Amino acid sequence: MSEAFGPGKVILLGEHGVVFGHPAIAAALPWGITARGSPSGEHKLVMPRGLSKPGRALLTAAYEAAVRESHAPPLTVKLESTLPVSMGLGSSAALSVALSRLLLSTVTKSEPAPNRVLELALRMEQEFHGTPSGVDHTCSALGGIILYRRKPGARAGRVRMLEAAKPLQILIAIAGKRSPTKRTVAGLRERRERWPQRYQRLFQEIGRLAEEGAKAIEDGDLASLGDAMNVNHGLLSAMGLSSTALDALVHRFRQEGALGAKFTGAGGDGGAVVGLFEDPRRVARKLTREGIPCLVATLGSMRAS
Ligand code: PMV
Repeated sequence: MSEAFGPGKVILLGEHGVVFGHPAIAAALPWGITARGSPSGEHKLVMPRGLSKPGRALLTAAYEAAVRESHAPPLTVKLESTLPVSMGLGSSAALSVALSRLLLSTVTKSEPAPNRVLELALRMEQEFHGTPSGVDHTCSALGGIILYRRKPGARAGRVRMLEAAKPLQILIAIAGKRSPTKRTVAGLRERRERWPQRYQRLFQEIGRLAEEGAKAIEDGDLASLGDAMNVNHGLLSAMGLSSTALDALVHRFRQEGALGAKFTGAGGDGGAVVGLFEDPRRVARKLTREGIPCLVATLGSMRAS
């Protein structure tokens, strides 16, 4: 039996703008998806429980594409997730990276090269999302904290690994079910086509926040990073990408002392909110008692001082 892991991700700044060529910051999470494979007479992917019919069809198509392209020998594959699924925390990318690592390692009999994992995982992400920016699977495959940018028309993005001067302690709370990313991105694309200059201004500003956020992370300026997150949420909201539930959690995080808070991932009508805190555990305990699902993490690698 062999196994491979793909971590989920949280976008700290720049979602949506990243689809249109602007920079974004994403960080790998400690939770993710493990794929376990054992030799078999035919290719078989055991479907995770609770997956909808369209979800199963997408997963089957993505897996079949990966099997074809990797030339992996027949396997029975089981999946195990420690990540909330379809909440903006990169579960499809985590799945794509875990399965790509597993399939490629059965061919090479060794740890596959990161570039091969990135290529195959992108192929799978295209089945799930159509035209993803690539930030999710790139973050999952490389780990750590990344500043990512894919220029329009380019196949792959450019990555700068960020080393945090101070620990980034975050709290993630789940606001509830949401529509597929594809639909939220398509709605935004329509508005952008209708009012190109207005949306271009907003995307540019979001991209600048990501650049400034990268500097804040490297300088250990958590107040500046938190403020950039707050402003980013406002701009996403202005683009019609937030909801009552997401806004309520963002405001709650701020009342509880967040240095900054915003929704993370595609947003739309639900998903997750991320907050930067000095002591996220205290707030997590409080919100959990109120029945709000919470996750706490310290992000990325720290610069040696
Ligand atoms: O699918 P999600 O919620 O992890 O969102 C991905 C981030 C987007 O910028 C909205 C889409 C993309 O392809 O980058």
